Amino acid sequence: MSQATDTDVREDGRIESVSGPVVTAIDLDARMNDVVYVGNEGLMGEVIEIEGNITTIQVYEETSNVSPGEPVESTGSPLSVDLGPGMLDAIYDGVQRPLDVLEQKMNSAFLDRGVDAPGIDLEKTWEFTPEVEVGDEVEPNDIVGTVPETPSIDHKVMVPPDYEGGEVTAIEAGDYTVEDTVVELDNGEEITMHQEWPVREARPANEKQTPTTPLVSGQRILDGLFPIAKGGTAAIPGPFGSGKTVTQHQLAKWADADIVVYVGCGERGNEMTEVIEDFPELEDPTTGNALMDRTCLIANTSNMPVAARESCVYTGITIAEYFRDMGYDVALMADSTSRWAEAMREISSRLEEMPGEEGYPAYLAARLAEFYERAGYFSNVNGTEGSVSVIGAVSPPGGDFSEPVTQNTLRIVKTFWALDADLAERRHFPAINWDESYSLYRDQLDPWFVENVDSDWPETRQWAVDVLDEEGELQEIVQLVGKDALPEDQQLTLEVARYLREAYLQQNALHDVDTFCEPAKTYGILDAIQTFNDEAFDALDAGVPVEEITDVEAAPRLNRIGVQEDWEEYIEDLKDELASQLRELY
Ligand SMILES: Nc1ncnc2c1ncn2[C@@H]1O[C@H](COP(=O)(O)OP(=O)(O)OP(=O)(O)O)[C@@H](O)[C@H]1O
Ligand SMILES: [Mg+2]
Repeated sequence: MSQATDTDVREDGRIESVSGPVVTAIDLDARMNDVVYVGNEGLMGEVIEIEGNITTIQVYEETSNVSPGEPVESTGSPLSVDLGPGMLDAIYDGVQRPLDVLEQKMNSAFLDRGVDAPGIDLEKTWEFTPEVEVGDEVEPNDIVGTVPETPSIDHKVMVPPDYEGGEVTAIEAGDYTVEDTVVELDNGEEITMHQEWPVREARPANEKQTPTTPLVSGQRILDGLFPIAKGGTAAIPGPFGSGKTVTQHQLAKWADADIVVYVGCGERGNEMTEVIEDFPELEDPTTGNALMDRTCLIANTSNMPVAARESCVYTGITIAEYFRDMGYDVALMADSTSRWAEAMREISSRLEEMPGEEGYPAYLAARLAEFYERAGYFSNVNGTEGSVSVIGAVSPPGGDFSEPVTQNTLRIVKTFWALDADLAERRHFPAINWDESYSLYRDQLDPWFVENVDSDWPETRQWAVDVLDEEGELQEIVQLVGKDALPEDQQLTLEVARYLREAYLQQNALHDVDTFCEPAKTYGILDAIQTFNDEAFDALDAGVPVEEITDVEAAPRLNRIGVQEDWEEYIEDLKDELASQLRELY
């Protein structure tokens, strides 16, 4: 996090009042969003309001020992992240302090007050390889060299966006710390391997493009029915225990992003501990390297200060944008945006602002929009293309989607994965409700699936959607009159729909094989169910009673495709079996 140099420090102010995370100071010479040090202990805070001589500060640490009269000093710089090699494999708090460094300093997992630590290791050396030569002209954001940050990711060293740029006068390969100058320009500018960027400001980019590539999640219902694009936005609303965190974890583990930024925002400590213990042991399915080699974790759990929770999503998205600028596809998960909104609400009420709906500040919708607006598939300033996909969990109290955070999020995001308490209760996982969920990317992503998976992808999906719709309607009748009162063809449709739910929509995140389903397998399962459907209806047309059709021995094998490693062979064999057994009936 931004460290002030002595020359930046301005005139001191004095604390006037303390209200939880909100402190007011008088006589402080500071600007909006400046980082300030509060009280005798020098707690870190940020200016959030200035009115005349009164400066209001949100403090990122416990304020219980802070009293009026104590000094406040401004660093003169806005709340920023320190961007450079060393962020992958790291675990930060909401203001980019590495948790392990903080822990060592305090010998406790609980953050104490007044402890500061740089966001990236200032002493570690990195092997820098130049990408430009002496005499080359470089502009802001241009890539000047690379550093093997982890076995999976080459870090691109870029000219900071706020530099002027110019002709390279010195550059040399070698081992450097992030503070060493690696490039000198003719205008005197010196480029190091790290740069700061204010978290509340989007990093510059040329233009957003219409995304046309899916962020493949390896989750059948997502890729198959409600895909998100690389550079897209998605929300996962769901009641308590319905699978928001599991879904976020699945995406962090399996989505085909180059970089994952996982923001644990205000959730229980044990959920984050799971991530911290679980993730380092996982392997990246595409590279075979450690998953953490491409992951940055930001943890602000419910027992950590609320103001740092407010800032953690900004820290996360700024890190994501920085990797986007290198030309990477980044996926950011935030669990949960509701806790973030609650942090806004708490701070707003301390400020005695006029409350909006359900006590949330009137600017809730604008803040959510600004955050999701930073997602996108971009042409970067340096000519590369990169994306930031944002997937936010939403935890509506009582699972009621009509509350303000869910409603405002719904208006912004283009993919909506609605989790459902009834499905979760029936152990139908992932408990994503296929009636309520949607993806506005479907049509623009179809060409990719057609080209990379199967030319029948859109038609097959539509067939599945239609069968599930029909099942929904038939179930209403079944409730009234019972299944046996239905005509045989409708009974058969219900059977096909059951296989769609059990073999296709359900997917066990805890099963070694089923946890990840590549798109070809996702398609293969649908194709197998469709084969069953077609053969079964042929048999029905030929006069075979529906009970005989549904009793066919091979059919239940559909439900075991998900757990097959050799699924291609299994599906081919199963399709043959289904056809021959059903044809034997007539
Ligand atoms: N895809 C899945 N496969 C298998 N089990 C799942 C799946 N999704 C959810 N579960 C089960 O549901 C439980 C609760 O899921 P999870 O912790 O993700 O819920 P949540 O919505 O994040 O809850 P909270 O509101 O408490 O944060 C998991 O512990 C797991 O047992
Ligand atoms: Mg959760």
